Amino acid sequence: MADLSKYLEQREKLKSYMENEANRDVLCWYEENAQLYEQSFHSFGFEYHKTVMSAVLKHVKDKNSRILDCGAGSGVIGEMLVENGYHNMDALDGSKSMLDIAKGKNIYDKLVCATIGTKPIEAIETNAYDLIVSAGLFAHGAVYFESIPVLMEHLKQGGYFIFDIADYPGEKINRLLSIQRFKGLAVEWEKKGFCRLISEERGFHSHQAHPNSIMTLHKM
Ligand SMILES: C[S@@+](CC[C@H](N)C(=O)[O-])C[C@H]1O[C@@H](n2cnc3c(N)ncnc32)[C@H](O)[C@@H]1O
Repeated sequence: MADLSKYLEQREKLKSYMENEANRDVLCWYEENAQLYEQSFHSFGFEYHKTVMSAVLKHVKDKNSRILDCGAGSGVIGEMLVENGYHNMDALDGSKSMLDIAKGKNIYDKLVCATIGTKPIEAIETNAYDLIVSAGLFAHGAVYFESIPVLMEHLKQGGYFIFDIADYPGEKINRLLSIQRFKGLAVEWEKKGFCRLISEERGFHSHQAHPNSIMTLHKM
């Protein structure tokens, strides 16, 4: 049974770690609060996972696609992928206790615990996936856009990377992760012949309040 008040209290701590861009503290938070996250997720009113799932259904029609769920956490997106007929999935996350919950759901083939940064992730094959999906991964103190080229190494040519960016215009927490900054980087990546932004869908991060954008990058 979800203890939403406890989750909200813990979330304030997470928010302060994020504002301080304290990656170790953010990952420790997930490590310590994995069960609470899992129990409270659906009561909190998040919407971002639904918007990411809609973009996957729109852009990736082949249900046999090989998928890497980056920042898979407790497997929220993985469960939705399975409900929608996808089945060939691996999970990557920096928190072992989040992955332990995901493992119990029996939806992923391989689960890899590794921190996503700007160094190659050796435990994951390169040029192997048709789709990389991430939901709720790009956040201060968590993962920044600079990790996108590293993650895309794991995609096959012609593969897609679909992910959300929460839009908090004017807020302190939006410094490095603004949609405007992402689009500037995407123009540079396209000029280098690396990948192309093929779609942006607008949705909501949570509670039908904070908007978000779901980006689809196509590896060239
Ligand atoms: C908001 S949760 C999203 C989980 C899941 N995708 C969902 O929609 O419920 C963010 C996840 O990213 C993971 N994470 C944060 N920073 C990370 C990093 N630098 N490397 C790997 N995983 C990270 C956390 O452990 C957590 O499971």
